[in-house]
Amino acid sequence: MDHFLYKNGELHAEDVPLREIAASVGTPFYCYSTATLERHFRLFDEALEGTEHLVCYAMKAASNLAILKVLAAAGAGMDVVSGGEYARAIAAGVPGERIVFSGVGKTREEMRLALTGGIRQFNVESEPEMERLNAVALELGVKAPITVRVNPDVDAKTHAKIATGKKENKFGIPISRAREVYAMAAGLEGLEVVGIDVHIGSQLTELEPFRQAYEKVKELTHQLRADGHIIKRLDLGGGLGIPYTRSNEAPPLPTDYGAMVKDVLGELGCEIEIEPGRLIAGNAGVLVSEVIYVKEGEDRKFLILDAAMNDLIRPAMYDAHHDIVPLLEPEAGTVPDTYDIVGPVCESGDTFAKGRELARMSEGALVAFRSAGAYGAVMSSEYNSRPMIPEVLVQGDQFAVIRARPTLEEMLNRDTIPEWL
Ligand code: LLP
Repeated sequence: MDHFLYKNGELHAEDVPLREIAASVGTPFYCYSTATLERHFRLFDEALEGTEHLVCYAMKAASNLAILKVLAAAGAGMDVVSGGEYARAIAAGVPGERIVFSGVGKTREEMRLALTGGIRQFNVESEPEMERLNAVALELGVKAPITVRVNPDVDAKTHAKIATGKKENKFGIPISRAREVYAMAAGLEGLEVVGIDVHIGSQLTELEPFRQAYEKVKELTHQLRADGHIIKRLDLGGGLGIPYTRSNEAPPLPTDYGAMVKDVLGELGCEIEIEPGRLIAGNAGVLVSEVIYVKEGEDRKFLILDAAMNDLIRPAMYDAHHDIVPLLEPEAGTVPDTYDIVGPVCESGDTFAKGRELARMSEGALVAFRSAGAYGAVMSSEYNSRPMIPEVLVQGDQFAVIRARPTLEEMLNRDTIPEWL
């Protein structure tokens, strides 16, 4: 459930008509609902009630500081994958002991930043990373808390580009080698083993792959404990999918997921961490755009929007579906038209949808891309020298710009011309 609903014939974000925001900030823009962010965080938190746990929001999904503040205030920890994300977590007021650091390519500088600023754990993904982290920790005279991310070789049954738990993927250490890697970790003075980490992919629409992975983690926990390691925490990653179409998708709910986690892992007495990103932010955001032209092609109509693939790359990159709806609610019985919905960028990949039915549109009409809160703004770029679009946060009947659109001058001023030119 989200808080983008039609009221009085037009689409609102909570109590604010999106048309009003468009008039104030211009299109295109991203708009997030505070109530939806909070609700989705609470769903996870409540799903794990009864077990010691921490929900670490995977901020790669949407990392605006205002969004992070909303979630931090609700009690979220953060999952970060770069020094930049770590800095965002700290700036949003999240204490180091609630930040976990994931990712296959952590650099020395990133390790130093987190070890000096405070960190709950590093999720280590390889032996060379382990050695480097050990060296950095020893230099600083501290112990780095770690889990090892294991790769359980499970098929997540999701898009190939976002599956991470098969042996051909670059992530984690094969679970079959985990015991030797933990033995190595135990011999490194600068490290303190605190648990196990696993993350098998994103936009999973079934519980079964999670269950398979977590069963393997359970078995490993027993083995590692028998080997003398202290396994007090299990980081189970993120990945629970969301419905991108209103009609036919029904991925499992956080409550089902939580019940399965407790069922499989409850007996171990471990603290549970999870790292949801998409499920918290995805349906908490929309992308609002204006129709620039309706172009009659030879055999189809093109709806040319002012948003493009640089603003929302998911359709071009993963063939992802986003529902696109008019801000003005179509009257009952309106016969829809069929459009290819495209942006102004100069490549055919800049196509959001083909043959999509939509109420008849004309120039100046406004539309919203639903489910655009996760992996939308964060993956945008200035391709074609299109300024990054603003982000807006709504709470009840108020809204605020949480990232402004740069002026063309600001955009150009980031380049410098060498003096020899
Ligand atoms: N933890 C780790 C270690 C991850 O790599 C990810 C996502 C998450 C948590 C959060 O997963 P989520 O709950 O959001 O599924 N850009 C792609 C998605 C990439 C996901 C990468 N890792 C997309 O737009 O679909």
